[in-house]
Amino acid sequence: MIDIRSRPALRVQRDDPDYVRRAAAEAAFWDTPSPYGLDAMENIRGNGPGDYYTNRRLTGDRNTPWQETIPSYGPFRNGLVLGTSGMKLEARILEINPALHLTFVDISAGAVERRQQVLGAQFPGRVATLAGDLNFIELDANTYDFVVSSSTLHHIINLEHLAWQVNRALTANGRFFLQDYVGERRFDFSPGKRCVFEAIYHRHMGEGASVTWSGESDISPFCGVRSDEILPVMATYLGEARVRTASALLSPLLRTRLAEHQPDLRQRIEDRVLRGLDRIRGVRSLRRSSVKPAFFRELALVSDLLEDAGILLPGNAFAVYGKRTTATSPAPS
Ligand SMILES: C[S@@+](CC[C@H](N)C(=O)[O-])C[C@H]1O[C@@H](n2cnc3c(N)ncnc32)[C@H](O)[C@@H]1O
Repeated sequence: MIDIRSRPALRVQRDDPDYVRRAAAEAAFWDTPSPYGLDAMENIRGNGPGDYYTNRRLTGDRNTPWQETIPSYGPFRNGLVLGTSGMKLEARILEINPALHLTFVDISAGAVERRQQVLGAQFPGRVATLAGDLNFIELDANTYDFVVSSSTLHHIINLEHLAWQVNRALTANGRFFLQDYVGERRFDFSPGKRCVFEAIYHRHMGEGASVTWSGESDISPFCGVRSDEILPVMATYLGEARVRTASALLSPLLRTRLAEHQPDLRQRIEDRVLRGLDRIRGVRSLRRSSVKPAFFRELALVSDLLEDAGILLPGNAFAVYGKRTTATSPAPS
């Protein structure tokens, strides 16, 4: 049993020379927004089949993204954001929780400065920022009724420390909202997952169509460092209220290059309509469906079946936690 009153040991120390070097590289990686990062992507993406699929899995409603469910647990006043994600998403959280003040913490000084400038101006008096390392953060006890983290915990090594700190920092009725990548470390998908993905792809595109799996060269030093342990560690140190998962076989879509397919007539018409709408709105959507709809549908169906049966690791999760006050069994390592 784990006594949650005592601090868990750190997996990595602040003065470990290898850690110091990689942490500096991690911060530098996020100092300037990447053209493929969440900040950039959320401005050019419209709602597509991927969004509807994810919403349905994570909230039960295809039109309801996870962040829209937050007010139903509130109202919230004093909030902490563990790592930055996309600014549109963060602005939406402030918008739909009007009494909420948010303190953003991120290892990248550039990322928090952008929040201070943009969100600080949009929501005066409701935004504070801090450049800091979540692997070693110390939070005041019983202070926050709201903690949120999106797309950041999969960069954290001292997960036990962070989970323990969040649990201690939550007020008695506080809530921790987590959305993150929870699949294989460093996106190194299991052989079974690769095999099923390729089999479905070949069924739709022909045996000769190539699938090229991405390596690690374009991801940040700590991306996916302990992603597969996030959910068990959080469940050990916090009180789990709700966990929903998605995307076992859809995460690979982001980490593969697929042979081009010839869009069918319906899709070509949809693309033209979308481009016309984009011109009127002055924005650019990504092609709504860059993969064949029938391939996407089968991938999603098989993904859900194998994920729910515990055969494949999910890729994405949305979880809600409260404050834990009792001992728990340790997370399996
Ligand atoms: C996937 S990115 C989030 C999305 C990003 N803002 C974008 O535009 O794509 C992960 C975030 O975690 C932050 N991060 C990584 N390691 C961290 C650590 N140890 N402490 C605090 N923040 C960390 C990074 O600086 C980055 O902002």
